[in-house]
Amino acid sequence: MNRIAFEEPRSAPAATTNIIIRDALESDLPVIVDIYNATVPTRMVTAELEPTTVEARLPWFREHSLDQHPFWVAENDFCVIGWLDFKKFLPRCAYRGTAEISVYVDEKFRRQGVGRRLLEKAIVRAPSLGITAIVGLIFAHNEPSLKLFGRLGFHRWGFLPRIAQLDGNKCDLVIMGRHLPAR
Ligand SMILES: CC(C)(COP(=O)(O)OP(=O)(O)OC[C@H]1O[C@@H](n2cnc3c(N)ncnc32)[C@H](O)[C@@H]1OP(=O)(O)O)[C@@H](O)C(=O)NCCC(=O)NCCS
Repeated sequence: MNRIAFEEPRSAPAATTNIIIRDALESDLPVIVDIYNATVPTRMVTAELEPTTVEARLPWFREHSLDQHPFWVAENDFCVIGWLDFKKFLPRCAYRGTAEISVYVDEKFRRQGVGRRLLEKAIVRAPSLGITAIVGLIFAHNEPSLKLFGRLGFHRWGFLPRIAQLDGNKCDLVIMGRHLPAR
């Protein structure tokens, strides 16, 4: 498989000193989708095989709610450069305290602490959202993401071998999880 090298050098943090994290607006969706779509051809991140559209993603965006499954963007100098969302891990009631999160940073702004800041905020805010466990579903070959989650106290809770097929290659999925104190 042609994989893009993901060992981006760590850049000077100056570019992201003005970063703020705020609730996402529907008007942010085109940039959110662009950031997402840029990862599709890498076959490193998402099981989506073709780029998606704003229209296709609108229902997904609207499923989020401020009080349990928020959607945040990281903004630098009024430009959205990354995002993080919470979603239900599984629909059954007993899992209501567990959320799945996804985090994406614009390629141009990686290795500047944006992903870490988004994830740190998720960890801090989760208890007040009624969330006591967070999981990330990450391809086993997505090293940057596994490292990011590992660095923030997530552990490998699950391993699903050869569960995804990407261009003829069978890929493993890792479930990274972290418990949080109940509020
Ligand atoms: C994973 C991702 C969100 C990291 O975002 P980022 O802003 O570049 O990460 P940060 O700069 O905050 O890095 C925090 C830590 O993560 C790890 N990390 C991040 N990128 C890394 C890379 N390319 N190689 C190795 N470790 C990496 C490091 O431990 C880093 O700490 P350090 O810089 O002190 O060494 C980003 O690479 C991305 O958007 N990838 C595509 C989407 C994705 O894979 N999402 C996860 C699945 S939901």
